[in-house]
Amino acid sequence: MTALSVSTSSAASLRADALVVGVAKGPKGVVVAPGAEAVAEAFEGKLAEVLTALGATGGEGEAVKVPSPAGLKAPVVLAVGLGDAEEGYSEEALRRAAGVAARTLAGTKKVALALPAESAEDAGAVALGALLGAYSYGAYKSNGAGKEPVGEFVVLTTRKGSKDTKAAVEHATAVGEEMNRARDLVNTPPNDLNPKIFASIVQAAGKEHGLKVEVLDEKALAKGGFGGILGVGVGSENPPRLVKVAYTHPKAKATLAFVGKGITYDSGGISLKPAGHNETMKCDMAGAAAVFAAVVAAKRLGLAVNVTGWLALAENMPSGSATRPGDVLRMYGGKTVEVLNTDAEGRLVLADAIVRAGEENPDVIVDVATLTGAMVLALGNRTFGVMSNSDELRGTLHATAQEAGEPSWPMPLPADLRKGMTESTIADLANMGERMGGGLVAGLFLKEFVAEGTDWAHLDIAGPAFHEGAPFGYTPKGGTASGVRTLVRFAEQTAAGAPGTPGAKA
Ligand code: BES
Ligand code: MN
Ligand code: ZN
Repeated sequence: MTALSVSTSSAASLRADALVVGVAKGPKGVVVAPGAEAVAEAFEGKLAEVLTALGATGGEGEAVKVPSPAGLKAPVVLAVGLGDAEEGYSEEALRRAAGVAARTLAGTKKVALALPAESAEDAGAVALGALLGAYSYGAYKSNGAGKEPVGEFVVLTTRKGSKDTKAAVEHATAVGEEMNRARDLVNTPPNDLNPKIFASIVQAAGKEHGLKVEVLDEKALAKGGFGGILGVGVGSENPPRLVKVAYTHPKAKATLAFVGKGITYDSGGISLKPAGHNETMKCDMAGAAAVFAAVVAAKRLGLAVNVTGWLALAENMPSGSATRPGDVLRMYGGKTVEVLNTDAEGRLVLADAIVRAGEENPDVIVDVATLTGAMVLALGNRTFGVMSNSDELRGTLHATAQEAGEPSWPMPLPADLRKGMTESTIADLANMGERMGGGLVAGLFLKEFVAEGTDWAHLDIAGPAFHEGAPFGYTPKGGTASGVRTLVRFAEQTAAGAPGTPGAKA
């Protein structure tokens, strides 16, 4: 695993295999960003000139390597682009630049990061970007683990002996490692990650970190009347699970329930997905992975808030025992649902888990789910949708995501779209309504299962959960850990009693 530390040594004297500096687009060409003064000096003030001659512009995503002159301990300098110098360096620009450095330097043992990290927050951003950018999933490559990630990063900072900086880097380590854990789960092929295996991984992590884990297997689910989870899982040889993983803090003033969609493979069921739509459907448990990672991160950070994760795990397969379009399921809590399309399975497993989570009277329920293709059409591949029965909570989560570096957008739950789900059906609800606004229809379906008076929000991460394009910044191909930072930040803000969170009410 990649290690992270902080140092106030000079960039010139630190022993490392590579030294990373930031460059940006200035009005008159490339400018060297703060933090690299000693490096610029070793180049006798010609670093920008050298880099320009090598084609550097300072643009985001850029990485240019130069051999070190005498006076630097590291043999090579890597300049990474930060974008426009005038705009200042945002935390996201720092995370992305550090991520680019980590990807470019894969295979390097020790890397010193002399990026502009003047505040503790900025040092934390550099650390997180480096850790996320160093991620690679090599478990199934026969030639070892593929390209080894960077072994060790040293974040250089000018703030001598600053406790804050050390704390920020430790925070980034916890969040980054848990995000990488979520990425591993999403990337694991579905033949090696079914509901039972996922549940046992949570149990093992619970033991390691001192979290309370409860698993309902198919027998317990049947006894409890979890018709939604069972109805989705009944077509598979791999039976479903509902996992509860709880973190509690003695000084907690609020309790958060996080609910994750955990379809370990979504074939569509009898309403089978066509080829071209099923190759990446191992990612359909990304919500559950995000929830799991967020609970462990809350524990590692020792947040003064209770966080309960609910993972609704099932494999959606077609077979002779599978739920048919036309079947009626009796959901946990008693509502009946006519299944018109077995590919709208996420809302069925989530409904059971939301009702179960609600029984424990949390202050807020947030569900995270790769729920609809419609949300991808609406917001694209990098932005998740935020829906809620509370305007305040929707606003808080959108702002929280923004702060945490995750693009999101508030979406409505228009009452008129509810009709299509409740009319002309033999059951209380149908699992499908109007095609138009399908992401909102799915949100409205979930809302039916939220107890009166409970604040609830729904994050539809179908777009950003899995990255299929070329890697960029700190985002690799495959699982991204979308949602984790938003959940963790929301828990932190609740613990701090920030306005708009349940911590403020108490
Ligand atoms: N898991 C899919 C949604 C999805 C699509 C996730 C693309 C990630 C990328 C979900 O279970 C699904 O199949 N939804 C259907 C619902 C429809 C049948 C009402 C959809 O969006 O097409
Ligand atoms: Mn589906
Ligand atoms: Zn699905």
